Amino acid sequence: MNDTIDRITIRRPDDWHVHLRDGAMLEAVASFTARQFARAIIMPNLSPPVTSAASAAAYRDRIMAALPAGANFTPLMTCYLTDDADADDIASGHAAGIFTAAKLYPANATTNSAYGVTDVAHIMPVLERMQDIGMPLLVHGEVTDGDIDIFDREAVFIERILDKLIRALPGLKVVFEHITTAQAVQFVDSAGPNIAATITPHHLHINRNAMFAGGIRPHAYCLPVAKRELHRLALRKAATSGSPKYFLGTDSAPHEIHAKESACGCAGIFNAPYALESYAAVFEKEGALDRLEGFASIYGANFYGLPLNEGMISLERSDIQVPDDIESAGSTLVPFHAGSELNWRMIPS
Ligand code: NCD
Ligand code: ZN
Ligand code: ZN
Repeated sequence: MNDTIDRITIRRPDDWHVHLRDGAMLEAVASFTARQFARAIIMPNLSPPVTSAASAAAYRDRIMAALPAGANFTPLMTCYLTDDADADDIASGHAAGIFTAAKLYPANATTNSAYGVTDVAHIMPVLERMQDIGMPLLVHGEVTDGDIDIFDREAVFIERILDKLIRALPGLKVVFEHITTAQAVQFVDSAGPNIAATITPHHLHINRNAMFAGGIRPHAYCLPVAKRELHRLALRKAATSGSPKYFLGTDSAPHEIHAKESACGCAGIFNAPYALESYAAVFEKEGALDRLEGFASIYGANFYGLPLNEGMISLERSDIQVPDDIESAGSTLVPFHAGSELNWRMIPS
């Protein structure tokens, strides 16, 4: 008896965390996300960041203009929170359908986070308002103190910041973005239904050894940085568990090849071109292909209170060779899984 599944068809998925950038890079990457996903939560860490409803609306227009003709894709915009974030602008932007959520970057935690929040106390009035109106807070959960080991930054963020925050605002919807640790899984599992998390393909595939495999590997470097194997296993278990608290967020974060392969290489992994194929490999290995649809296409929309997508896509068993690099609109980008084979092919509807 052959019980191998060769094709699965699921509701069109969404990406609940992506960096589409701006200008030439936006032109280079937008089509990859729009091909795989119906909607995506667009990260606001441009330079300068997207901090007002007016700048988010203008950015949304630039994204729409960068999409290939006929693309059926909806960007969902977010507000980058700063110490002087304006609760009224954020609430009215949310009511007007411009802001889907707001993003907390601790100052200097990651790419373009210099304008981020220096102390959550500064934005409590904004967070209270978000709790009142049911607007989700998206969190890059790392402390930035120089005395905290980089591999401990997420776990310490939970202890020092996140745990207190959700106790102070028990009704706030929070997405703990791109989780990387067993501690984060434990925290999310034991919190109420208003606390969820996104999980990237790369944190499901690699542990921290990948950054040092035979030499320093800048294309395996992202933030939060990949952790020990035990953490990767905890993430795989969470993602494939069928719990509605975990959903797809690629954190596709493109940087030009020369900015990655540098004496001070940028953090970020460009996984948009083969994101679903990458997740499918994980779900298959975990014997959970029947749970991919919940993770990719249902739980995120339900958490955000948005309708499920109507169309379908398929994944077909087929060996695909991921190129060493991708040239697009004048940019050279190294995709996640560069030079290796994946065993599923995504077929848009
Ligand atoms: C992201 C980027 O480059 O914008 N980088 C990353 O390594 N994930 C920022 C982020 O999501 O923290
Ligand atoms: Zn982040
Ligand atoms: Zn990100």
